[in-house]
Amino acid sequence: MVSLHPIERKTLLSINKEGISPSEIVKATGLDINQVMRALDWLSGKGLVRIDEGVDEVISLGDEGRLYLEKGLPEKRVADFLKKGPKGVDDIKNVIDPSEVSIAIGWLRKKGIAEFKGGRLKLLNEDVEKTGDEEVLELLARGPLNKKEFSEDLKPWVAQLLGRKNVLSSVEKVNRLVYLTSKGREIVKKGVALESSGIGQLTPEIIKKGAWIGKNFRPYDLKADVAYYGGAKSHPMTRMVDDIKDIFLAMGFSEIEGPLVESNFWNFDALFVPQDHPAREMQDTFYLEHPSKSSLPDEHILRSVKEVHENGGGTGSHGWGYDYKADLASQTLLRTHTTSTTIRYLAQKNPLPIKVFSIGRVFRKERISYKHLPEFTQIEGIVVGDVNFRHLLGILKEFYSRMGFDKIRFRPAYFPYTEPSLEVEVYFQDKESWIELGGAGIFRPEVTLPLGVDKPVLAWGLGLERLAMLRLDLKDIRTLYWSDIKWLQNLPL
Ligand code: PHE
Repeated sequence: MVSLHPIERKTLLSINKEGISPSEIVKATGLDINQVMRALDWLSGKGLVRIDEGVDEVISLGDEGRLYLEKGLPEKRVADFLKKGPKGVDDIKNVIDPSEVSIAIGWLRKKGIAEFKGGRLKLLNEDVEKTGDEEVLELLARGPLNKKEFSEDLKPWVAQLLGRKNVLSSVEKVNRLVYLTSKGREIVKKGVALESSGIGQLTPEIIKKGAWIGKNFRPYDLKADVAYYGGAKSHPMTRMVDDIKDIFLAMGFSEIEGPLVESNFWNFDALFVPQDHPAREMQDTFYLEHPSKSSLPDEHILRSVKEVHENGGGTGSHGWGYDYKADLASQTLLRTHTTSTTIRYLAQKNPLPIKVFSIGRVFRKERISYKHLPEFTQIEGIVVGDVNFRHLLGILKEFYSRMGFDKIRFRPAYFPYTEPSLEVEVYFQDKESWIELGGAGIFRPEVTLPLGVDKPVLAWGLGLERLAMLRLDLKDIRTLYWSDIKWLQNLPL
């Protein structure tokens, strides 16, 4: 005897003709389509039904098709115009959209409606007949049609219209028809096997009345195919930013924010980057045309920064030894690092000790590739007080360890605004290699003294997307911003 689930029984009994579609079964049984598909899968596995699959091509109007339906095919519009007599291409340009001229002329000639004579287009026959393609468009005005439904005469016209850009669109749809096998027919006739093979769902009634006593329970089928259910969740980048904020907050930091549109002054000058530094060149930095200028800081800060650049001011440094130009300082740009936000905050004379971080977008003129984006995110922070280089290494180590990266190392590096400077690298087990994740260091006196800060400032700027690539095991950095809904849904929490 065959044991059947209630949805299998319902489905089996609904097959009342040769070749029934799953959607007809849905209507007949009141089951949903997933249940029916599941039942059919089981039934065919038991040899009770056979499912024939075919592919239908469903044709509908495209954007151009809808337009043609309303205004007429371009060649027909031109043909109407030619009834007044032969016309040159320039005349034709006046009656239809210039983008349609060559299309119209091409089809007029291809369809044998008009020909060029002496540089002018002339109708070959005064009566311009309605063609099959116009009939096809009219039929589709009522809604999509299965390709099979077009008459034999119209089929070549459908094919021709499919060859024209955006006129029609065609989608393939799988159609299934279900048939009873002889075994299935026998079972339906006997009706015996259609008895329930056991209790499938335990209800309060069954328990109260003791109706389960002496009965069988139908086993769970853990391998049953069910519809995918995705549920809603935050984007992995949002989750990562939240994690990072939690980590810094737990380490006693506060969050700060700054503008994306910055001045040369806060992005570069205040960081002791000389005004002719190559990183400022157009190929690295996006400068803005509107607005092209931003306001400058307090007069005394501007003056101290100018002096530091020119001769070191009172910092003990020689400076860069050039003429600092204040008008360049107000030039606007998209910030190239979040260090601009850090230095703005530092200039505000906040009480010490300071422990702040920021996470934000930065912009650099990079060619987009699997590992580069012109827009990316930095994790930035500073600690100001009685601190030293060991503290900086400790903070970075602690941060990465809380992010789940235990193996990190530091390498000496150079930034115009820090001394000493370092680069952080984490070990990536899968690739068995070290990957560079960001820079850090102690701000130079040329940076801090003009702002009136005379304590050490530990600073870092780390990449977020690279970290995300490691965490999510991505080969291509762009995956993070493609918003591929399938990928997002399938990402484990
Ligand atoms: N601003 C540097 C960068 O964008 C990182 C950095 C921040 C380095 C702070 C040192 C101190 O690469």
